[in-house]
Amino acid sequence: MTEERARWGSRVGLILAMAGNAVGLGNFLRFPVQATENGGGTFMIPYFIAFLLLGIPLMWIEWGVGRHGGLRGHGSVPGMFQTLWKNPVAKYMGVLGLFMPLVVLIYYCYIESWTLAWTFFSIKGSLHGLSEQGMRQFLTNYQDLQAPEMGWWVPFAFYFVTIAVNFGVVLKGLSGGIEKLAKIGMPILFIFAAILVVRVLTLHPQTVTLANGTTATSSPAAGLNFMYLPDWAKLKSPSVWLAAAGQIFFTLSVGMGSLQAYASYLRKEDDLTLSGIATAATNETAEVVLGGSLAIPAVVAFFGVAGAVAIAKGGAYDLGFVAMPLVFNKLPGGALIAMAAGVMWFGLLFFAGITSSVSMATPTTSFLQENFGFTRKKSVLAVAGVAVAIGLLHIFFYQWGFLSEWDYWAGTFGLVILAMMETVLFVWVLGPNPWRWRQVWSADNRMWNELHDGAAWRIPNFYRFIMTYITPLFLVVMMVAWGYKDAWPTLMMHGIPADEHVTRWWSRGVMLLILAGLMLLTRIAWRRREAQGEEAA
Ligand code: ALA
Repeated sequence: MTEERARWGSRVGLILAMAGNAVGLGNFLRFPVQATENGGGTFMIPYFIAFLLLGIPLMWIEWGVGRHGGLRGHGSVPGMFQTLWKNPVAKYMGVLGLFMPLVVLIYYCYIESWTLAWTFFSIKGSLHGLSEQGMRQFLTNYQDLQAPEMGWWVPFAFYFVTIAVNFGVVLKGLSGGIEKLAKIGMPILFIFAAILVVRVLTLHPQTVTLANGTTATSSPAAGLNFMYLPDWAKLKSPSVWLAAAGQIFFTLSVGMGSLQAYASYLRKEDDLTLSGIATAATNETAEVVLGGSLAIPAVVAFFGVAGAVAIAKGGAYDLGFVAMPLVFNKLPGGALIAMAAGVMWFGLLFFAGITSSVSMATPTTSFLQENFGFTRKKSVLAVAGVAVAIGLLHIFFYQWGFLSEWDYWAGTFGLVILAMMETVLFVWVLGPNPWRWRQVWSADNRMWNELHDGAAWRIPNFYRFIMTYITPLFLVVMMVAWGYKDAWPTLMMHGIPADEHVTRWWSRGVMLLILAGLMLLTRIAWRRREAQGEEAA
């Protein structure tokens, strides 16, 4: 605890690493599917509202929580919460900030490994000439470990390589590994995305066969229209609001625990206001400008709006792994162009994914180092071992919904819970007291002052009001609406085929075991601290 904490090498490196943390598979795979399923333009309105009232404030709150804890020697959320609230319960609440990044890391790396595999298949030409049916079968075969053309072991091999690369980067440390990866990966990702966007948006109108057998003309512009023309009547649907807010959480990585871990390496005199907003803005550019101009216009051009919606509803990964390679096959220029486009698309997904997943490995590795005296190597190996062992369950049981359960409870629901807790602790417990209106606007607003230590830019004053009242209120409304509308039917597995129920219960059981294990480790860690005479819990 007394040893010098690692530091970011440069401000550019920090912002690229933070943006790399946020920009991920969520921007290019999850966003187009969510937007398409939820009415395109209709989705974008709650999406922007959630960005302004939840995304941006939570981004600052997480940087604030992270730096506050980091300055007191904590690189993960249990310790950060404990420094904000001197109640023994605080550290256990913070365990969610270890649990979520670990759990999301494990299944995220599996999806990330597909992007590596599909980059390889694009180079090999395996996807060229496949029909829609063939392309879908190719994906299903891979997921079901029944790919006669490649061998059952191939998904395992790509998964191990992905895990090895991820933990190899984490092993190299903050500025030598994570920051370097971001400096290389982020520009490549943006360049690949920009090239693909230009190609997609310059596509000529296409003749599309509709579901009823008739033909019509479609174009990328029809996709953009779909993205930006709202259907006001559908805005009344709570599920569109929940989906939009859920996307803001996932895409910005807020409520997870990884942004706080990165921010714990800031100094007191480092800026976090401008850097926080720069991170959020970079993520939104990648998501809306690039992510929104890629899959949706491309797929709409070749399949029409109804076809694109049907594909998005057909499976969470069909848009990225089935429809996009089909589009590439149809591009003028033949096999070579299809290969180049495939390499760029899946390559950009891989870089987007890995710059996020390394951030998810950071909280648990820091936790082991800081609390159990592990060397970096030992803690990285320990977390990698756990990730591989549990990751295998995802590979074996993917087809029975094992991964979907984790994505829902940790990757969606859990984020809102952690966000609620950190907002209350950082804003209300640190101060201002929300019942004292004058405190909110006074010069002694501790939350506000904490955010502005070293600030390169002053946050507009109305965000005091938003962060004290609106963000918590929005979170409570979300939790209640979600609990009522979504969580209960999901918990009871409404609409899930009966043959998946057993596996899904096991999947939840494994998550609970991980949570219990992390709680136990936290308890042991604080006992050790007490024994060493450090701040008692
Ligand atoms: N924020 C990361 C993503 O969008 C997790 O994929």
